[in-house]
Amino acid sequence: MITVHDKIFIPFISRAEIQQRVHELGEMINADYDGKKPLVLGILNGSFIFAADLFRELTIEAEISFIKLASYKGTSTTGHVVTAIGLEEDLHGRHIIIVEDIIDTGKTLSSFLPEIHHRQPASVKIATFLTKPDALQYDVMADYTAFQIENKFVVGYGLDYDGIGRNLPDLYILKD
Ligand code: IMP
Ligand code: MG
Repeated sequence: MITVHDKIFIPFISRAEIQQRVHELGEMINADYDGKKPLVLGILNGSFIFAADLFRELTIEAEISFIKLASYKGTSTTGHVVTAIGLEEDLHGRHIIIVEDIIDTGKTLSSFLPEIHHRQPASVKIATFLTKPDALQYDVMADYTAFQIENKFVVGYGLDYDGIGRNLPDLYILKD
């Protein structure tokens, strides 16, 4: 058991299981993107460890870049707006693989995907370390998912609880 801030977490998915699964996702991407020179776009901060591990599983030619998402309230017509900071690459005609730590409600990605499509990439796919199917409220589907988990809070492998826990090599889940 570990304590992060005021909460207790228990071991959930080990680093060995994570490594094995990330390897499998890498093999899928290698098969799907051979000769396409994909641009992997990691979403900071949460995805930095998963993106680094997944990227090292790629044996094909590929590029990587990282962006941060800033969220703000738009007008009543635009609603909730999520915009990318640090997106300098020309996405036109590129094969994009967005890398996320977790799709929870799906709100973040669903508000950000239009900005990506607006830049006219050749294709867009999503690779996520985790999904919580029972929490999903928006229409986003990952193409590559390492693990589907129950609707409980987790920390480790890049994911934080209020800033802490990202450096844990294994994944931990909130104790009941
Ligand atoms: P969404 O917009 O609801 O899909 O939320 C995605 C974001 O919420 C992720 O990028 C995480 O930063 C955060 N998040 C959601 N669930 C968890 C969790 O269990 N642990 C840590 N962060 C989480
Ligand atoms: Mg977070």
